[in-house]
Parts: sequence; structure tokens; C-alpha cells
Amino acid sequence: MDNEKDRVKGSYARCLMKDNFFDYFYEIFMNADPYVKERFSKTDFEQQKKLIRHGVNLMIMYANEEFVAKVGLERLRKSHSINELNIHPKYYSYWKASLIQTVAEFDDEFDENLRNDWSQVLDVGIAFISSGYDAY
Ligand code: HEM
Repeated sequence: MDNEKDRVKGSYARCLMKDNFFDYFYEIFMNADPYVKERFSKTDFEQQKKLIRHGVNLMIMYANEEFVAKVGLERLRKSHSINELNIHPKYYSYWKASLIQTVAEFDDEFDENLRNDWSQVLDVGIAFISSGYDAY
């Protein structure tokens, strides 16, 4: 495990061994801004937790140039764009900060290097998804 993508995969695997990872994430994310809370006011979280688990996996794979992930992220790029969920690009920084804060809490091996690794990996997928905001 010697590159940042492998370190992030390992970190994510450790996080997922604890089963309330995404409860914690949504708690932080929804309290980051009223806009976020409002968007999730009708969400079925049992379903959403399964979808986001896979979504984060796609983000890591995409940054790793596993291009099978590109199809899945393209779907998210479109679903989050202006004519569907209408998620303004500025909210991705809250998403990223909330996820990294959650990892910091759940991964026993978390340190500043891992923070950096996660940050770089997430930036790749976020650039792709948020650039689709008005592309459809
Ligand atoms: C790169 C970051 C993100 C990823 C990987 C991600 C992933 C996902 C996934 C996998 C779904 C379910 C599938 C779908 O409906 O397309 C979803 C739904 C959703 N996402 Fe995101 N998302 C991200 C950023 C955001 C941000 C910044 C917001 C801002 C509020 C947001 C709000 C939503 C909402 C409102 C839904 C629909 C929930 C429902 O069905 O009630 N997402 N997201």
C-alpha cells in the first residue's frame, strides 16, 4: 500500500467496519448548512446510506483511473445537476469536509498524511461531478 489511492482504500475499509459511519457523516453534513438539511428533508436514509457507500467507492475508483467507475460517476454528475437535484457546486466543499471529518473520527490510523490523501482523491471526483452542474 504505497500510493495515496491505496491508502485511501485501506482507510475507507477500516471506516466501513464500523457500521454507523454514514449516520455520523450525514449528521455532520446536514448541520453544515441549512441548504443541505433542506435537501435531505424527505430522504429515506436507510436507502441513501447504501447508495452513498457505493458512491464513495466510485469516487475512490475514479481517482484511481478505474474507468469502470466513470459510468457510475457520470450518472451522479447528471443527477446532481441543475435540472435534477440542482446541487450548487459550492456545497461540495461541505460534503468533502464532512466526509474527511467522519473518516478522522472513525479511522484509528488517521493522520495528516491520510487527510491529504483523502483530500486529493475526493477533489478528482468532485471536479468531475460539480463541473456537470449546468452541462445537461
Ligand atoms: C461528490 C460528492 C457527492 C457524491 C459522491 C454524492 C453521491 C450521491 C448518491 C450516490 C446519491 C444517490 C443516487 C442519486 O440520487 O443520484 C445522492 C443523492 C443525493 N445527493 Fe449527493 N453526492 C455528493 C454531493 C452532494 C452534495 C454536495 C449535496 C448537497 C446537498 C448532495 C445532495 C444529494 C441529494 C439531495 C440527494 C437525493 C436524496 C434523496 O433521494 O432524497 N449530494 N448523492
